[in-house]
Amino acid sequence: AYRASLLRFDDAGLPVFDEDGLLVVAPDSAGRQRVLDAGSHAAVSPRHPDADLTHLPGRILAPGFVDMHIHFPQTDIIGSPSPGLLPWLENYTFPAEARFADPAHSNEVADVFFGELLRNGVTTALAFATSHVASVDAFFEGAERRGLRMISGKVLQDRHSPDGVRDETEQSLIDSEALIRKWHNTGRLGYAITPRFAPASTDAQMRGAGELAAKYADTWIQSHVAENRDEVAWVRELYPEARSYLDVYAGFGLMRERAVYAHCIYLDDTDRALLRDTKTAAAVSPTSNLFLGSGFFDFGAADRVGYPYGLASDVGGGTSFSPFHTMMAAYYVGREGQTKAGLSIAPSELWWRHTGGAARALGLGGVVGNLQPGCEADFLVLNPQATPLLARKAARANSLEELLFAMIVLGDDRLVERTVISQAL
Ligand code: GUN
Ligand code: FE
Repeated sequence: AYRASLLRFDDAGLPVFDEDGLLVVAPDSAGRQRVLDAGSHAAVSPRHPDADLTHLPGRILAPGFVDMHIHFPQTDIIGSPSPGLLPWLENYTFPAEARFADPAHSNEVADVFFGELLRNGVTTALAFATSHVASVDAFFEGAERRGLRMISGKVLQDRHSPDGVRDETEQSLIDSEALIRKWHNTGRLGYAITPRFAPASTDAQMRGAGELAAKYADTWIQSHVAENRDEVAWVRELYPEARSYLDVYAGFGLMRERAVYAHCIYLDDTDRALLRDTKTAAAVSPTSNLFLGSGFFDFGAADRVGYPYGLASDVGGGTSFSPFHTMMAAYYVGREGQTKAGLSIAPSELWWRHTGGAARALGLGGVVGNLQPGCEADFLVLNPQATPLLARKAARANSLEELLFAMIVLGDDRLVERTVISQAL
């Protein structure tokens, strides 16, 4: 049992905060720590008189963050300046990803990547690997060693891709299926069928991806859509018969529960309704969209139509592993839309969209991203005293929203004192 301030969320995604809280965890039959009880110390402690108590004064317990879209092989290309998405892929991304044919390089970068996730308090991510099988094995081995709930998959890109990253249609599908059988649902790991984006896969590869998605119905699907104007125009040339870019994916059977599309900027309401009706989610990546000059996600339209979405770093298009930086950028982007009353998105909603809301959009609601009874106990010990300015702001906060906003605006990896994993091995 951990006694500290405690942040969690109710079923509606609204924050529940106990200034003097108690979080009680216990192992399930598989040896995985789960939340047994949570609430105010006064209410919860009498129910667990024998619990072994850790007292953490001045600290805040919060759910581990969930990053809905990140590229582990792009760890080293964060901050590579470019006029836009397509030249950035050509000049930085593909050359960097070509190196992941080498298992030693894959392992080395995977170690750095998981180190950064944990230092920043990210405990679950839906991540791209590269087109090389070695990169997928390195990712899952690293996640398994750390006991993390992680999802990834081999990138499919059999056209419009340079030597070194381009794969071969038939072999790419054979490799994907073998990786599904090897890794999907082993421990806390999940497999995502991963066509890079429509311009980089032939119809045959897209069709094969859709067939795998139907055959292995509880796998994830991840790709990119409608991120950048030049990209959208390119897809219109490649698929003149499609109603929209998103509709290309629908045509190949790649929209369903557990399908996640990064960006979703240049959509219309028919596209948004298609996301809603197919239970397909958007991964909103504001630091990436601002860095690459891609555009602004329309939060107001997403809420009006009502489809699932959550926040994501999109490292290395994104500029930071820190969920605080991503939430801050989402605030700026939400302000751009201004379709909601008030300033922008509420701090507690930003936080929900990067924890329980993101987990729900991934189909992992009630599993991770929250600290309600039954959830896997991946949680953070936050220390607002870690930096002088945040200590002052936190002490002066007059409400939960002010406290959360102080952490979003001023927080970074220093605020995350400890990341506790449910299945630390
Ligand atoms: N579209 C296709 N590939 C990528 C990628 O690696 N990053 C981003 N941001 N967009 C993409
Ligand atoms: Fe991406």
